[in-house]
Amino acid sequence: MAGKVRVAFVGCGGIGNFHFGHFADNKIPDAQIVAVCDKVEERAQKAAARFGATPYLRWQDMFAKEQFDALYVCVEPCAHEREDGGMELAAIEKGCHLFVEKPVALSMDYANKVLAGLTKKKLIHAAGFQDRYLDFAPRMKAWLATKEIGFFNGYWVGGMPGVWWWRKRSTSGGQAVEQTIHTFDMARYLFGEVVAVSAFGRRGIMENVPDYDTEDASAVNLKFESGLIGTIYSGCFANAFGKNGIDVFCKGGKLEYTERGGFKAMEPNMTIEMKTGNDYGQEEDDVFIDAIIENDQSLIVSPYSEAVKDLEVVLAANESMDNGGKVIYLR
Ligand SMILES: NC(=O)c1ccc[n+]([C@@H]2O[C@H](COP(=O)([O-])OP(=O)(O)OC[C@H]3O[C@@H](n4cnc5c(N)ncnc54)[C@H](O)[C@@H]3O)[C@@H](O)[C@H]2O)c1
Repeated sequence: MAGKVRVAFVGCGGIGNFHFGHFADNKIPDAQIVAVCDKVEERAQKAAARFGATPYLRWQDMFAKEQFDALYVCVEPCAHEREDGGMELAAIEKGCHLFVEKPVALSMDYANKVLAGLTKKKLIHAAGFQDRYLDFAPRMKAWLATKEIGFFNGYWVGGMPGVWWWRKRSTSGGQAVEQTIHTFDMARYLFGEVVAVSAFGRRGIMENVPDYDTEDASAVNLKFESGLIGTIYSGCFANAFGKNGIDVFCKGGKLEYTERGGFKAMEPNMTIEMKTGNDYGQEEDDVFIDAIIENDQSLIVSPYSEAVKDLEVVLAANESMDNGGKVIYLR
């Protein structure tokens, strides 16, 4: 590719700014943010001023007027496909490489259409599961590969995010879909494909929260292709008394993964402990731009295709919760 990779953004809110931080101060010298879009004018203006980019209020206008090689989609879960057939499909039509924040959609139909378009046009694609870029993740996976695992427990238990769209299933998908999907993704990264899902959720713990209609707590049972079983818990009622991570119980050993912090693997006479040693968020953006320059999708550790499989699992969890814990078979 000649010249810098020209990058555009839709969504200049919380996670948009996380990515902006990685492009700021010429930290990714091979890329330039040329256009930014947000429905909230001051967000678009602020981001545009930071990068000398052009601000837009409507992505349709940005797509019509600007030339860019890659698009970051950093909008709330319900917004991907809401307007004019969907922003990802329109970007694919333009031949744009795509970075899409998780959850990549709220419907499998749309996510599958996007994946088919990306594959057909051989575009580079990535999704926002930055934990896959933690420097110790391959080491943790390698240790587990030597063990016979009995089962695991995963957790995303904490407080309630402040963004307006989080509190309704119709706009966020609920906690398992919107937040705990990071834990589901790490479980799939470590353990492989999920074949069956059965879940229970409960409501009513959080009181006096306006416009709130999703689960306060859920437990999702998973069965993997390998035969492995595990449960992933979500909760938004615990604030500082929660836990984020995965505990894996093995024959003669145990591994504790602390979300984004490190891991501790214990076996008789040996303990391995590693803490996070890299800026894994910076790395996911560096790698996305490198993959575009090299035209090499295999560099991406967190492709859109993996995010679609994560989405399938968490949407199945919702379906099961809504149907008394019914087992949903995925393959
Ligand atoms: N990878 C991570 O760790 C991580 C962390 C936080 C959020 N996220 C994900 O990122 C997404 C956004 O979350 P957030 O916290 O940044 O939300 P946010 O509400 O702070 O920002 C979303 C922005 O998108 C804009 N937007 C929505 N629809 C638009 C449209 N059609 N055109 C232009 N702008 C539009 C909104 O105005 C808003 O400014 C969510 O899916 C969330 O799950 C990922």
